[in-house]
Formats: sequence, C-alpha cells, structure tokens
Amino acid sequence: MKKTLGAAVAIGALLLALTGCAQEAGGGSEGPTAPEDIVVGFAQVGAESGWRTANTADIQSAFKDAGIELKFSDAQQKQENQIKAIRSYIQQDVDVIAFSPVIESGWDAVLNEAKDAGIPVVLTDRAVDSTDDSLYVSFLGSDFIEEGKKAGDWLVEEFADSSDPVKIIQLEGTTGAAPALDRAEGFAEVIKADEKFEVVASQTGDFTRAGGKQVTEALLKSNPDVDVIYAHNDDMGLGAIEAIEAAGMTPGEDITIITVDAVKDGMQALADGKINFIVECSPLLGKQLVDIVTKVVAGEEVEKRIITEETTFTQEQAVEALPDRQY
Ligand code: AHR
Repeated sequence: MKKTLGAAVAIGALLLALTGCAQEAGGGSEGPTAPEDIVVGFAQVGAESGWRTANTADIQSAFKDAGIELKFSDAQQKQENQIKAIRSYIQQDVDVIAFSPVIESGWDAVLNEAKDAGIPVVLTDRAVDSTDDSLYVSFLGSDFIEEGKKAGDWLVEEFADSSDPVKIIQLEGTTGAAPALDRAEGFAEVIKADEKFEVVASQTGDFTRAGGKQVTEALLKSNPDVDVIYAHNDDMGLGAIEAIEAAGMTPGEDITIITVDAVKDGMQALADGKINFIVECSPLLGKQLVDIVTKVVAGEEVEKRIITEETTFTQEQAVEALPDRQY
C-alpha cells in the first residue's frame, strides 16, 4: 500500500513538473490552445497619424479573424496611460500583453511586473531601451535606422550634381520615441559624408499633421531659404505642405520633401508632386502578431526580432502603387 502511494506521489510530482515546464515555455499562462480561449491585451500608442489608424485597424481585424479576444486601449500618446493599461492587463491575467511603446525608456518596472505574473510581452512597432531582453518574448516591427538611411541615400543621390549648400529642416517624431531617434540617426549617418548637407533646424511635430504644420510655419520664418524638409512621417510632411503653401511657396518644387510611412494621403501627395520621396513603414502587423501570440501560448519558440519588409516610393512609383494601396 505504502509502495503504491509512493509511486502515485512520484507520478503526481512528475506530472506537476512537466506542467510547470510547459507553462514556462508558454510564458507562464494557463496555456489555452483554442483561439477562443486566448485573451490578449494590446496597449496602443494613440491615434496620432494615418499610420497609427491603419495599424490599429489591421491588428483589430487580424485578431477578430483569428477568433482571439483582443482587449484594446488607446494611450493618447502618454506613457503613463500605457503603463496603467499594462497593469490592468496584468490584473486581468490576460494570456499575452502586446504594446507599441510611446517612448523608448522607462519600461523596466512594469515589464518586470508582467514577468513576475508570468505574462509574456510582445513589442510591436517600437522598441524599448531595456538592457534585459528577457522582459519581452519578441519584437515585431520596422528597422527605423534603415528607414532614416534610405531617406538620406535618396537625398544624397538627388543632390549629387550640385556643390551648393543644402539646408535641411528635420521634423522629428515624438521626442524619445524609437522611430524619432532612429530615423534621425540613420539619416544623419548618411548625410554626414558630404558637408554640403546641413540640418539647420530640427524640432518635434509629435508625428501629427497639426504639429508638422505649426513647426514648419515657425521654422520657415527663421529659415526662408531652406532646400529640404525631412519629416519623420507622412502626417508631419502633409502639415508642412500646408505651411509651405500658406507661405506662398510650392511644395515639392521650391522645397524638396522627404517623408516616412507611405499611407494613402502621403502617397497621393507624392503622386501629385507635393512630396518628392517616401520611405515605406508598414503598419500591417496584425497577422504576424496573431502568429506570434498563437505560438507563445502554445509554448513554441518565437524569433526575438522580426523585421517588417518595406520599400521606398518615388513620384512615378506612387502613381502606379496608389490604386492598390490598402491603407
Ligand atoms: O512607430 C511608427 C510611427 O508612428 C509612424 O511612422 C508614425 O506615423 C506613427 O505615428
């Protein structure tokens, strides 16, 4: 009898250990396997741009199609709101938390809380600057440094035949956000090779159309002879176009405009000759995020870094691409 009991206890312990292993691989959740049993909490940046609107719509529809419950919150571009949303997802014991960090720094405390609760975190779109990469299971999104380099490469090529100084205004994204830091870094790295390129002013327009317009209005007054505007997204570039036209100049001719994103409004302005070049940044991350979440809850391996495939557009290419543009 004692022997039977001992064997039962040993088998029980083994089963418990095995379950524990499976939970750890799956991120510590109960490990639901059916899509309808999975709950994901998504903390979005806000609705600051056409890109963000398209990103939200794509993520929501991908989870709906997959039959996975998605709890969604909009942080209105404030880090404290995003932290609150993540804490609430931890309290609700969701299976996976995904979020696009408003800014790069200041996430370690809340990410440690998620880790302690055994809830895996997926970064989408933007990175955190944490040195502990065990705080998230995967980071899905663009290579923003590469995007900045592509913008710089086009500019260098475009002005290759001129030795005159090229004065540039840079419209930065949200201060401290990964795409703002990295797009500035990649661009600067390329243009520094030729001293004729000079960034005469660089200010944040917070990734919004209104911000781009307001900053451009002010900067045109102090830099009326500017040659180029490099905007970290289409929306700020579209705001700059309004400011340039209001100042009696022709965007795309008097001032060369380079932007990032390639959303429909940006592509239309490019096709109309008001923007000169766009570096694509794809907001269509929904299906890949569903795939990562499904693998994580099933305890499967996921890649730590998944880089989105992207291209660039000239004015001629925009005319061709516009009819099929999804967002
Ligand atoms: O993080 C991606 C950036 O955020 C997009 O380029 C911009 O439009 C958005 O607001």
